[in-house]
Amino acid sequence: MTNRILAAAALMLGLSFGANASECELSLEANDMMQFNTKVLSAPASCKEVSITLTHTGTLPAQAMGHNLVITDTANVAAVGTDGMAAGFDNNYVKPGDERVYAASKVIGGGESVTLTFSTEKLTAGGDYTFLCSFPGHWAIMQGKFEFK
Ligand code: CU
Repeated sequence: MTNRILAAAALMLGLSFGANASECELSLEANDMMQFNTKVLSAPASCKEVSITLTHTGTLPAQAMGHNLVITDTANVAAVGTDGMAAGFDNNYVKPGDERVYAASKVIGGGESVTLTFSTEKLTAGGDYTFLCSFPGHWAIMQGKFEFK
């Protein structure tokens, strides 16, 4: 009987650790109206890795109304967006090897989702970061603050 109680306690501890890890797992939606559903994504600076799942809730194809998720310094948003447009669809609208980009997902269309998992090694707690969609013409509207603190 005692063993069972211990096992239950261990299980509960395991679950609470799981809850901590889930703070590093975020989600985000994008639609056919060229909008994200939030202006802020936050992850605690204790996260060694962050996972963000982007779901496209619309129906339009990726070539017409594709969305992706790119994390960069706020100061670099326009440059990353402009270079991304030149990089084209085949590069998911991100310049190959762009060192200003901390993480970038592929472009998805309506009904699809993608999970972007990245190391926070290069991020600084309290840094000024932005998440954006680098699909041509989208980043000016489709962006928000990525808080890491
Ligand atoms: Cu977009």
